Amino acid sequence: MSNDTASENVEDEEIVIDIDEPEMTIEDLPGVGPATAEKLLEAGFEELLAIAVMSPSELAEQAELGEGVSAKIIAGAKKLANIGGFISGTALLDRRREVQKLTSGCSALDELLGGGFETQAIVEVFGEFGSGKTQIALQLAVNTLLPVSKGGFDGEVFYIDTEDTFRPERIAQMAEAVGMDPQDALDRIHVARAYNSAHQTLLVDEIKRASKNYDVKLIIVDSLTSHFRSEYIGRGMLATRQQKLNRHLKELKQLSDIQNALILVTNQVMSKPDAMWGDPTRAIGGHIVAHASTFRLYLRKSKGGRRIARLIDSPNLPEGEAVFTVTAEGLQD
Ligand code: GTP
Ligand code: MG
Repeated sequence: MSNDTASENVEDEEIVIDIDEPEMTIEDLPGVGPATAEKLLEAGFEELLAIAVMSPSELAEQAELGEGVSAKIIAGAKKLANIGGFISGTALLDRRREVQKLTSGCSALDELLGGGFETQAIVEVFGEFGSGKTQIALQLAVNTLLPVSKGGFDGEVFYIDTEDTFRPERIAQMAEAVGMDPQDALDRIHVARAYNSAHQTLLVDEIKRASKNYDVKLIIVDSLTSHFRSEYIGRGMLATRQQKLNRHLKELKQLSDIQNALILVTNQVMSKPDAMWGDPTRAIGGHIVAHASTFRLYLRKSKGGRRIARLIDSPNLPEGEAVFTVTAEGLQD
């Protein structure tokens, strides 16, 4: 049909426009001079989107501005942040075509995820202590180094460790099990210990810088929430905590899109029955983390050292379960 080529060109143009659009910053906001910009930055507002979703009173309090000024800034941010901008289905499909899938080494788990752990996505692995979250993280770190023909990404790994549970010996063990030189594996997995939530957030900027020299294909945050949970305690701190977590996740998601990389975050669930965190399918961080995650895997321990992973509210895959075990060699069916 003669229409086809014409419509293809239109789609191409739309993609180009999308990429070339200059990124607006808070300095572009009407009425924001250097002093106000400084206040906003100091309060942690680096992105228009973060401002656009605030209420005037929240912004006034957090950035120490008047409410009237805050309302104007928010209105400006909503316009500039291009909330709800449309992009063509074709452009979306093109991006989706770049998606790569990483094997976990366990076929049941890969199948549950529609063929493996996807790039351009945040995967949240949550479950109680000892359920296998860190073991999955370590295994995916090793597998990311594998050639694409073996289900890997042939890329580099950046691992943010908040609980000091990264074990190089375990990486070496898993690397040997897949026929990789342990030294080579350890060279390509870059680890940073995050001392608090602010440091954890800064490390993402560090990864952004590193991505100029390294082919970053997997970013792990183990655990995403532990620092935030211990630093922001009680109802009064909840809004601030959620806002900071939200921004952290947005930055991670942005990196995953730019790098065509996979983001794996772990999250613990409290066994203590509590109004906010009692439901096991509702991990720490509540709906902010749940909403930001593309895939959510809920892990639980079962008989004989088995682990059960359940896929929860995925955009395009049926809910289901996969059984795996953690052995000396790593994850197995
Ligand atoms: P928290 O971080 O405490 O919330 O737990 P987690 O979900 O990260 O648990 P983790 O991944 O550390 O799983 C711990 C379990 O993995 C242990 O109880 C062991 O069953 C298993 N495991 C850990 N290391 C090894 C190992 O070197 N060999 C074997 N065979 N199993 C291991
Ligand atoms: Mg752990």
